[in-house]
Amino acid sequence: MITIRGLKKTFRIEKQFVHAVNGVDLDISEGEIFGVVGYSGAGKSTLVRCINFLEIPEEGSITINGFGTFTARNGKLFHKDDENGAEKPATDKQLRQLRRNIGMIFQHFNLLDRSTVFENVAYPLQHTGKTKTEIAAKVRELLELVDLSDKIYSYPSELSGGQKQRVAIARALANDPKILLSDEATSALDPDVTESILKLLKDLNRKLGLTVILITHEMAVVRSICDRVAVMENGKVVEEGNVYGIFADPKENVTKRFVNASFGLSNLDKLTESGLVNITPDSKLVRLTFSQESVGEALISQVSRKFNVSLNIILANVEILQDAPLGALIILAKGDRADVENALKYIEEQNVKVEVIVDGMD
Ligand SMILES: Nc1ncnc2c1ncn2[C@@H]1O[C@H](COP(=O)(O)OP(=O)(O)OP(=O)(O)O)[C@@H](O)[C@H]1O
Ligand SMILES: [Mg+2]
Repeated sequence: MITIRGLKKTFRIEKQFVHAVNGVDLDISEGEIFGVVGYSGAGKSTLVRCINFLEIPEEGSITINGFGTFTARNGKLFHKDDENGAEKPATDKQLRQLRRNIGMIFQHFNLLDRSTVFENVAYPLQHTGKTKTEIAAKVRELLELVDLSDKIYSYPSELSGGQKQRVAIARALANDPKILLSDEATSALDPDVTESILKLLKDLNRKLGLTVILITHEMAVVRSICDRVAVMENGKVVEEGNVYGIFADPKENVTKRFVNASFGLSNLDKLTESGLVNITPDSKLVRLTFSQESVGEALISQVSRKFNVSLNIILANVEILQDAPLGALIILAKGDRADVENALKYIEEQNVKVEVIVDGMD
């Protein structure tokens, strides 16, 4: 339902050019929760700000079901209704209408501090042709949806972070958008509150058929609610796929770093550096990733006997992703080089992904 092609946005700071978004193609389906992850400066915010044209891209096109295609050329924006329509310069009215149909939430909530919860949520309903009574009814309905009816006359300063984000979500949904953009909406919240906001987003996604594009630098967030994810680096999407696939078999280094951090495996560096794990010349430190619960320790002890190698489990982790288990084991394999290599080959034949992290035999 959202098709992005060849999207580019460059900022110029004095004589320097920053290619914040540098040729992005993406297809986001209706009703999915689509994650965008990447380190700071990767271009995530710029990418989503282009989707509702808070930033006007230089090049590329964005097609949104029901809104036609917007195409940028040399920073000028054109629009056509459908495949066969004639292209004309995009108008402010078209952009206003599009923005009204795309909700957005942010890390720091961006509420009006001097206005009550009611006024904050009512704000985007002004000048939409609704009467006062209709607006009041809609605000009540929205606050009920985000479970905040009891705070209707409170001011933002009287609310917790999680409550503020609920107000922001209600406000973002005021005009019944089909798409919600979330830019690090849980980054300022503690883990419990993060979970409750993510649950709310998931509920809204199901209940309203809302398509959610969710930017985050936390893989835990992706793991918890996204269907698919794109990984950004230097303005480009370097890897994308369904969440289980990305966690089970990340290809790019940046993706591996994200996945390892979220599995708690980034502690590995500390373990090896501290000497707690001693990688001797007859050993290899290996990471096993397996997608069936049944394998794991049973396989390890079986292989250990069969090939006469010692396989020591250093770290173990099982996650449930999209209702399916995904396990990761870090083992230290020790023995004759040929035995160790045969053992690893055998493990790989059992559909377990095998990666040598540190090779003491090299
Ligand atoms: N308005 C702007 N003017 C100049 N440069 C900008 C502007 N907005 C973004 N940039 C630059 O574009 C690049 C991408 O920024 P962007 O905010 O999209 O990254 P991000 O992935 O959202 O990072 P973060 O995780 O820190 O929010 C950065 O190098 C940033 O400095
Ligand atoms: Mg950002």
